[in-house]
Amino acid sequence: MKFTRTLVTCALPYANGPVHIGHLAGVYVPADIYVRYLRLRGEDVLYICGSDEHGVPITIKAKQRGCTPQDVVDEYNKIIKESFSGLGINFDIYSRTTSKVHSELASEFFRKLYDEGKFVTKESEQYYDEEAKTFLADRYIIGTCPKCGNPEAYGDQCEKCGSTLSPEELIDPRSALSGSAPVKKKTKHWYLPLNEYEPWLREWILEQHKEWKTNVYGQCKSWLDGGLQPRAVSRDLDWGIPLPIEGGEGKVLYVWFDAPIGYISNTKELLPESWEKWWKDSSTRLVHFIGKDNIVFHCIVFPSMCKGHGEYILPDNVPSNEFLNLEGRKLSTSKNWAVWLHEYLRDFPGQEDALRYVLCANAPETKDNDFTWKDFQARCNSELVAVFGNFVNRAVVLAGKYFGGKVPGNLKPAPVDAEAIAEIGPCREALEKYLSTFHFREALKEAMNIARIGNKYISDAEPWKVFKTDPERTASILYTCLQISASLAVAFEPFTPFAAEKLRRMLRVGIDAGFDHRLGEGSPTENFYSEGDGRALHTGIKPAEDIVLRWDMIGSGDILPEGHELGEAELLFRKIEDSEIDAQVARLEATAAAQAAAAEEKAREEALKKVEPAKEEVSFDDFSRMDIRSATVLEAERVPKTDKLLKLRISTGLDERTIVSGIAEYYSPEDMVGKKICILANLAPRTIRGIESRGMILMAKQGDGSLKLVAPSDAADGSTIG
Ligand code: 2FM
Ligand code: ZN
Repeated sequence: MKFTRTLVTCALPYANGPVHIGHLAGVYVPADIYVRYLRLRGEDVLYICGSDEHGVPITIKAKQRGCTPQDVVDEYNKIIKESFSGLGINFDIYSRTTSKVHSELASEFFRKLYDEGKFVTKESEQYYDEEAKTFLADRYIIGTCPKCGNPEAYGDQCEKCGSTLSPEELIDPRSALSGSAPVKKKTKHWYLPLNEYEPWLREWILEQHKEWKTNVYGQCKSWLDGGLQPRAVSRDLDWGIPLPIEGGEGKVLYVWFDAPIGYISNTKELLPESWEKWWKDSSTRLVHFIGKDNIVFHCIVFPSMCKGHGEYILPDNVPSNEFLNLEGRKLSTSKNWAVWLHEYLRDFPGQEDALRYVLCANAPETKDNDFTWKDFQARCNSELVAVFGNFVNRAVVLAGKYFGGKVPGNLKPAPVDAEAIAEIGPCREALEKYLSTFHFREALKEAMNIARIGNKYISDAEPWKVFKTDPERTASILYTCLQISASLAVAFEPFTPFAAEKLRRMLRVGIDAGFDHRLGEGSPTENFYSEGDGRALHTGIKPAEDIVLRWDMIGSGDILPEGHELGEAELLFRKIEDSEIDAQVARLEATAAAQAAAAEEKAREEALKKVEPAKEEVSFDDFSRMDIRSATVLEAERVPKTDKLLKLRISTGLDERTIVSGIAEYYSPEDMVGKKICILANLAPRTIRGIESRGMILMAKQGDGSLKLVAPSDAADGSTIG
């Protein structure tokens, strides 16, 4: 099928926390590379994102903070939007699911399915928190995962093993709001009968989309093989889009029903006149970039919704990566085990491309991968700085030094020049193959290969030596190097757009980077040079002599003409210093230490709650045979060569005697002197470490095994206890 435009969507991030490197590596960096690439190829692309502002995690965060859900989403919508743009990820629109356009469109969508009888309703018993007076959907309910035993699994998902769950599956469920055990209460909900879509989904995905990435296809197949069930699309919550039907009072749309409709409503908000051609015309190619935990929603649920609705197109592809770990551990928002984008941009100003580069070079495309700060530093310094940056810098600086900052003539060509240039063509072809099939890591290697070709060429040709004896040959060498640099300025535009733009400034050229829909059709601004065919030439600078780079120029040997004036040489990248890496590692170590301390404290609290089972019943006679009395400690000392024992001289009211007690881990001799204690006075004497111990001090043994003195406040020595 011939598509005439491409609509790229990125998963709408929940507006309940900032974006971290896991999100970037999984979704946003690959999507941005793809969009930039298609635009360089001259395709008409619309690039849509926004924040997902409904759902339980947002209301939980608001409750924790004592503010409204709207306050939470306002804060994170802004942080996320700004940080994306700081990394060069500029969507055509970044809107939000709390917008009016969205709520109207999502309501209409639901209403149409409802009117056409596409839902089934079911009354069922669901968990309810009697203290908080609310039903416990999704993340409002926590319990033990039946699959992996994680005691903190949510009602919709276990974050430890990744299983999708329903509240009913949780073992020992408890309310996330009050901690109390929930009761069951009847409620009615609307369900999308996914089972009815199963035959169609099997054909559409398993037969017609065998080209989808293996991880995506595999997950779909296993969902379909497992058999689909009707899925509730309404919730008993007070944050969300109200159910637009009679009988739906007090209920809202399930967040996963409204969120993907956000792609459509955001398009409508951006292009109120022409949005339909992007969503209702089969010549639009729709590509959803998503995280792996979103696969089922984008490949099964949303397509079924659209199929049921009948007017919207389906995705042509749904690229998704695996997960990125950080320094060997799973990224976690709640545990603050992350590199947050807004903090990275603050800590590494001007180093946007470094992060984009490393996240792509190390992307978890086929398996989970690890981000480490050492690897980040090594890749920046030994690849970006030492290969790409070094080559371009040598070319432009030497052209400045020997040829007055102008492209020299190709005065004395040699076969090695043409050979170097000829090596670039295959890199471009490989780049195209990999980029169009979502293999961004491999694509980046090919772009870097062009820089390696240049670096090797200039190192072998040694223009700095040749110039002394043969300026004409030097001219050809630098002519060739500058042509390779121009190829690099295009090839790296998708991956490292800031460096690519800097390089274009140095070469004083523009680039055709596609039409920008944010400007509205047919309204180029001063940064966009109309080319007469309705497309725009996107560049930050007015290109000298109107040299405009295009994708298909990669590998060309004569992009820059002789005499073309170059700009100032700038460093494309800078070295990442050890101190910068050490600071980041230290921050993570502090986080890990704080986490370990918190976990230990939590474990202790849990252990303290443990209560030993009740003992067998005893008679009053049995009890009264025990001579329990109050006493006072007169002297105390450690029993030599032991950790646990104290030797105590005590006054019992009856006598003074010695007791050896295993409490040294919890009480020092100084703590004990003068203390009132309870003793079992008629316990048969025992010799412990050569000391005769007469009686036993009564202690409370807590759940974690620690001991606490049972102290009879101010009773006189010898008072009997019973
Ligand atoms: O997993 C997430 O972060 C979701 N907020 C993604 C939603 S994608 C789309 F459906 F909106
Ligand atoms: Zn689990």
